[in-house]
Amino acid sequence: MQNRQIVLKAHPQGAPTPDDFGLSTCEVPTPGEGQMLVRNLFFSLEAAIRGWLDGKANYFEPIPLGGAIRGPSVAKVLTSHLPGFEAGDLIFGLHHWEDYSLSDANTILLSKLTPEADIPLSYYAGGLGGSGHTAYVGLHEIGKIQAGDTVLISAAAGATGSMATQIAKLRGCKVVGIVGGDNKCQLVTKTLGADAAINYKTCENLTDAIHEACPEGVDVYFDNVGGKTLDAALNCMNTFGRIIGCGMIGDYNDQDNPTPLFNMWKLVEKELTLRGFLLYTYMDKVPAASTQLHHWVRSGELTVLENITEGLDNAGLAYSEMMRGATVGKNLVAMDLRDDESIS
Ligand SMILES: NC(=O)c1ccc[n+]([C@@H]2O[C@H](COP(=O)([O-])OP(=O)(O)OC[C@H]3O[C@@H](n4cnc5c(N)ncnc54)[C@H](OP(=O)(O)O)[C@@H]3O)[C@@H](O)[C@H]2O)c1
Repeated sequence: MQNRQIVLKAHPQGAPTPDDFGLSTCEVPTPGEGQMLVRNLFFSLEAAIRGWLDGKANYFEPIPLGGAIRGPSVAKVLTSHLPGFEAGDLIFGLHHWEDYSLSDANTILLSKLTPEADIPLSYYAGGLGGSGHTAYVGLHEIGKIQAGDTVLISAAAGATGSMATQIAKLRGCKVVGIVGGDNKCQLVTKTLGADAAINYKTCENLTDAIHEACPEGVDVYFDNVGGKTLDAALNCMNTFGRIIGCGMIGDYNDQDNPTPLFNMWKLVEKELTLRGFLLYTYMDKVPAASTQLHHWVRSGELTVLENITEGLDNAGLAYSEMMRGATVGKNLVAMDLRDDESIS
């Protein structure tokens, strides 16, 4: 059996393009002691992957030219020599963009899934997986949101942002989303229930637009993008406001030239807290987050937005579209299974 892989063909110059990715094939690996062979089912396309494509280390090793792209997936165990896992189990973990992967106790984010029958399996790769958990943990553990807070959220139509927008509303906050398109503004207010939305690409002055949408000031800013948006948000924070440093996607395509910030003095003037976080550090908070998110999804109070691309061959294109802001919700790749393979 052949194993298709998506590999890094060229370091992206700016935003990634489909040409930066190539298709390669190799033999399906044989699991050794302590290893499992898994069939990947859904890949979660993550903004963080962009940081591994430049040939420079960040919090993970860079992906070498010709190397398989790595990303988190929901997968099914085919063969297991790893205690605690058996054939047929569904798992989540950081694998390569390929049909079949080896997984072991050192696989990052490895966990066994017990999907509920009435919940689509794809949700466990995004809305009820890392994206939902990041939004929930960020708002509660870092932002310390309270009912009545005014919460500003950037990339509010994206995977993390769409969940954060809805969770903050469910917690009784006023929510304003910042997004890159009028269609996204509509989605954030009409479908996700935000009180207002700002199109940062067309508004004349972002600070003025935030002041207009939040005349009472911002208590919590959930920052997914950094750069100019963070700078504008700093201008609008209330005293003792909290800034959740979730990500800086606005700078990921040109990491050697981060956007300068001019308004950092506001940290002192307004006695703000700006705190970054990585979900991995808060895994003990995930079970409670997961229980609450399941409850809201079941009750119909929380919508999981997905943009599912079919087929491993299209992963590079799907990733490029996500990183140029062409999509909304959680971007996933659903693997093309052979006739004799099944999810269940
Ligand atoms: N801390 C953690 O543990 C953790 C975990 C997961 C994700 N994250 C971070 O969360 C953020 C969102 O990630 P995600 O996976 O949920 O992706 P996502 O929001 O679904 O990402 C795509 C969106 O990002 C926005 N974007 C892309 N380029 C941009 C730019 N140059 N300037 C401003 N916005 C841009 C676009 O929305 P617009 O059209 O609205 O611009 C795009 O639709 C990222 O910064 C990521 O690194 C952090």
